[in-house]
Amino acid sequence: MAGWNSLEKAELQRLAEDAQKRYNEWKSKKLSLDMTRGKPCPEQLDLANRMLTCLKKDDYKSENGTDCRNYGGLDGIPEARALFAEYLGVGADDIIIGGNSSLNIMYNTVSAAMMRGVPGGKGPWSQEKVKFLCPSPGYDRHFSVCEYFGIEMVIVEMGPKGLDIDKVAELVGSDPAVKGIWCVPKYSNPTGHTYTDDMVDRLASMPAAAGDFRIFCDNAYSAHQLGRKPDQLKNIFEACKAAGNPDRIYLFGSTSKISFAGAGLSFMAASKANLDAYKASLAMQTIGPDKLNMLRHVRFFKDLAGIEKHMKKQAKIIKPKFDAVVEILKKNLDGKGIATWSNPKGGYFISFDVLDGCAQEVVKLAAEAGVKLTKAGATFPYGKDPNDRNIRIAPTLPSLEEIRQATELLSVCVEVVSARKLLG
Ligand SMILES: Cc1ncc(COP(=O)(O)O)c(C=O)c1O
Repeated sequence: MAGWNSLEKAELQRLAEDAQKRYNEWKSKKLSLDMTRGKPCPEQLDLANRMLTCLKKDDYKSENGTDCRNYGGLDGIPEARALFAEYLGVGADDIIIGGNSSLNIMYNTVSAAMMRGVPGGKGPWSQEKVKFLCPSPGYDRHFSVCEYFGIEMVIVEMGPKGLDIDKVAELVGSDPAVKGIWCVPKYSNPTGHTYTDDMVDRLASMPAAAGDFRIFCDNAYSAHQLGRKPDQLKNIFEACKAAGNPDRIYLFGSTSKISFAGAGLSFMAASKANLDAYKASLAMQTIGPDKLNMLRHVRFFKDLAGIEKHMKKQAKIIKPKFDAVVEILKKNLDGKGIATWSNPKGGYFISFDVLDGCAQEVVKLAAEAGVKLTKAGATFPYGKDPNDRNIRIAPTLPSLEEIRQATELLSVCVEVVSARKLLG
């Protein structure tokens, strides 16, 4: 079929009427589906249930004799640090293990920088103009942290080839107010891109106008491949060290999408100077993290191979859902020139682009027919997509049947809205 923008008006009118008729049919089904957030489904969570009982009555000591039931151990227990250091590709002394949320550590890191500054800096960031580069579409909660602290967000495009690294280098090199960049370097949320070696090397080594520039690198989806052949991400922590910029990076991760989203472990790797500064603020907030949960994770996964094996089981559950979305979008929308979508090799999302100016209307129509999608604009700073084009699809939580229905309806909504737009 010819792209819709090259069709005669009468033909487009006919397609619009047909799409509207199908939309009305879907609406009469009174669906009630929620595709808003990238949460694991119950079957994924069930895979780690044995963790709930893997600590027997007398098993509460870490390998260095620490009683995990008691206070203390701000860094986390040694065996958990060793396991997740290997997971992140850093040394065991480079990492700190936290509670269940890496977002919590990210927030704390930004908060401490605003209030006290960072090692090597001139003082609290809050006393200067501060900008963060925000690769977009990106993760909404990174952007809300910036918004909360009044940090100005600058969009850098995540285009068809991923991060626009030239733009990043230009802005970081020329503007001393650019203190940070958010990065999700592997299976990025929501586009699914993995940074190339060149992007990693340039981020690590690019000259920065701000002497205290930092990469807030959120490797949330490091082990989350859907297929057999995982993307390879160059070690960005080592790259920063090799480039003579060891303080440049905070590297975050968590097991939220590995064990339990509400009861996993979070971690951050950073240079000694950065970790010491972070711990100084952390020590004001807690006498020690939940070390029993660390012990549970180590007992359950045992080693990196254990995590990888577990993630294969997860992929078996969620890959059919991703495949269903892509297959239905292809069947319904391919060749019409009214939408494009990612076909990610890992991560938690499919990034879906419609004609400029149509995303909000598509999300609204879908909601009116009973399918809640992530708010259009959520993947951009301030919740505003300058092109009103991007929609984030989160296929993991709903059942396969629900995913199918929601994607069929989404396709019809796109047709209705696109036809209206093209008819002017
Ligand atoms: C990129 C990214 N980082 C972090 C998180 C949340 O991590 P946590 O549960 O460890 O706070 C998410 C959740 O969707 C995410 O997509």
